[in-house]
Amino acid sequence: MANMKEIARMAGVSLGTVSNVINKTANVREPVRQRVLEAVKTVGYQPSQLARGLRRDKTNTIGMIIPDITNPFFPAVVRGAEDVAYSNGYRLILCNTDNDHYKELVHLNELRTYLPTGLIVIPSSLSDLTAQAESYRKSGTGVVCIDRLPRHWSGDTVTVDNAKVAFIATRALLELGHKRLSMITGPLHFTNSQNRLSGFKRALRGAKIQISPDYIQEATFDKQDGYSKAMVLLRMIPRPTAIFAGNDLMALGVLLALRECGLRCPEDISVMGFDDLELAETTNPSLSSVSQPGYQLGTSAARILLDRVNGDEGPARHLVLDTALKIRDSIGPVSRARS
Ligand code: RIB
Repeated sequence: MANMKEIARMAGVSLGTVSNVINKTANVREPVRQRVLEAVKTVGYQPSQLARGLRRDKTNTIGMIIPDITNPFFPAVVRGAEDVAYSNGYRLILCNTDNDHYKELVHLNELRTYLPTGLIVIPSSLSDLTAQAESYRKSGTGVVCIDRLPRHWSGDTVTVDNAKVAFIATRALLELGHKRLSMITGPLHFTNSQNRLSGFKRALRGAKIQISPDYIQEATFDKQDGYSKAMVLLRMIPRPTAIFAGNDLMALGVLLALRECGLRCPEDISVMGFDDLELAETTNPSLSSVSQPGYQLGTSAARILLDRVNGDEGPARHLVLDTALKIRDSIGPVSRARS
């Protein structure tokens, strides 16, 4: 790899002069500067970001810790963060936790050694990241938590109003005449799963509808568990007439279970999802879902970090992004026979 010595030899100047030109640390006479730049071009020299970072105690990187990039909800979030990072001269370092708090702590400790300028975290569980975040902040690295929040978190956040939009989605099912509503929640140690469930329950209370506690099943935010929990619900007597899944992957599992049991959607059972993944439009029937702005979760988090880098020392910011309910073919009125 081309190095500064070669440039110095080619331009006929000292190493110090080369360094002054490249790092803009001192004025160099224009003809000499041009000679050095010419040599830089000829040898194809790329300054080491690492060496620069060590000098500044920060690299032009943003660490991003997410649960699982293979879950189709997260790529858009990452892409949003990366687009903002890229257009401001930063690169993203991505780490997956698989929702494992131990792995999350390993990433948090390791990432510190890369001297990142900022950190975006989608917490793995209801973990307490206060100590780790504090040590990042002490070294001048901002931390933003998005989507789900760790316990006792007092720093910057970007989320959606999960309880409110789950309430709205449940109301849509109630307005179609459903009384035996069920929910497959995500893991209930996640704040967003808890809030989606509380929105669901509030809508039922508002409609004075009581459901059997078994109509609420907890799953792991994946298709397989959505399928298994749907099978549990479909065996119940009486059977629910609507299933609200805490994310679209679990809703896909529900649709699969219905098909295997020979039940029609929405004629026999209505299904509602959450996330509004691109595939929601293409399922058969198309999936009604709560749309949350994954891309904007990422862009907003990265923007907050950059504001912090640029000197914003104001109080913690708590950004709540808009959501929307997408009604498609998977929900319908409850038939007389089923109500
Ligand atoms: O599908 C992944 C789910 O986990 C999403 O609903 C998102 O909000 C996340 O926490």
